[in-house]
Amino acid sequence: MALKTVFVCSNCGNNEPKWMGKCNECGEWNTFVEEITDKKNNAKETFNIINNTPKSLDDIKSGEKDKFDTNIQEMNRVLGGGIVKGSLVLISGEPGIGKSTLLLQVANNISSKYGEVLYITGEESEEQIKIRANRLKITSKKLFIVSETMIQNIDIYIEKIKPVFVIIDSIQTMYSNELSSAPGSVSQVRENANRLLKMSKGTGISFFIVAHVTKQGELAGPRVLEHMVDAVLSFEGNRSEEFRFLRTMKNRFGATSEIGMFEMKEIGLEEVKNPSDIFIEDSSLSKEGSAIIGIMEGNRPIFVELQALVVETKAVMPRRTIIGVEQSRVNLILAVLEKRLRIPFYNKDVYINVVGGLNIEGTSADLAIALAIISSIKNIEIMKEKFIVLGEIGLTGEIRKVISIDRILKEGEKLGFTHCIAPQKSLKSIQNTKLNMIYADTLMQCASKIFKK
Ligand code: TYD
Ligand code: MG
Repeated sequence: MALKTVFVCSNCGNNEPKWMGKCNECGEWNTFVEEITDKKNNAKETFNIINNTPKSLDDIKSGEKDKFDTNIQEMNRVLGGGIVKGSLVLISGEPGIGKSTLLLQVANNISSKYGEVLYITGEESEEQIKIRANRLKITSKKLFIVSETMIQNIDIYIEKIKPVFVIIDSIQTMYSNELSSAPGSVSQVRENANRLLKMSKGTGISFFIVAHVTKQGELAGPRVLEHMVDAVLSFEGNRSEEFRFLRTMKNRFGATSEIGMFEMKEIGLEEVKNPSDIFIEDSSLSKEGSAIIGIMEGNRPIFVELQALVVETKAVMPRRTIIGVEQSRVNLILAVLEKRLRIPFYNKDVYINVVGGLNIEGTSADLAIALAIISSIKNIEIMKEKFIVLGEIGLTGEIRKVISIDRILKEGEKLGFTHCIAPQKSLKSIQNTKLNMIYADTLMQCASKIFKK
């Protein structure tokens, strides 16, 4: 029996549309999504809630230990220790980045240690998965693959296999026959994710859902999934380079902004144990326009090389080609350099690149960007020594404090750095360090100390 569906505005909840397109309540465009109206089910759910009694916080089990070890340290790190039993995790990324490869490796490890794992593929045939599994040298006898797109059938497979862990690859290919809209539409994605959420909470099975993102990084189905799931992991990287980064965007069981690093090899994804090795090219340590930044990625300090190239141009619109840092930060730094150091940029093309394909979020690369730009313009290397640059820049050219500077310096010492350019304001937070420190309060002061020649 087909269930009754209605169209609801996803912005304001209006369920009485006069027409499609623009909502007659809130005025937003293209916000109507199809939803099932199942009165009977709603009544049953309320009854269940009434039967459920609130427990004292003291009586509730913490569930701390109920985690599956994925046997991949970088994966455990982003998940806050492992896959929490009964959790629903979304893993998003561009097509071809390696989501299916990573999850097949995870599935293999979990099934070898904990029991049956079910991999539901809506994108590839079972044979295609087998070819990948052969390539990855997957041997587990408890890993089950099924090619399926109808969400209602998943219940049946779960009943048959009784898995501890289920992978849905991908949510955009799944469809519910109770809705008339096409797979991948907002209504389908929302309804299917809701079903999976109920399954995970009701059965204690952990689910991983794969979602493709568009080029702009938007989750298809306007972020409808993000608030439903327990954790959102984003798999990033440049397809032409071999390094991949798994980032926590949301995590109900651990810290966000953790990052796991992998290298795509012939036989699948391999963990990167010493990330700083991949972001710094030895030959580049003393070059014009190059600076090493120390940043905290979640709980761990890593070191990344940033390169700037500035060349004169006669073009009316000079070029700004920026990879690995936010364009708006670079624009701000150029404005500060122009205003405070009187360096004109109207006649200069500026290229910025972060080695290794990592995206540095936030403001931690500010001072390094500024010094690398000056270094490229002057054709003078920042320093002959092995150095790190730390500091944010404010609009007046002041250099702001860096969080966890002590930990970055300790790690820097271990990796053999000898010098560090840091904000004067961070001086108090530094316990003792073997590095030779160069402190500055403002960008002007810093530039005159570094480029005094
Ligand atoms: P895939 O996991 O299919 O990406 P997604 O599921 O995110 O769309 O992997 C995509 C690429 O990874 C593919 O172009 C081939 C490459 N690859 C390797 O380099 N080594 C391997 O062992 C495997 C399985 C894939
Ligand atoms: Mg895939």
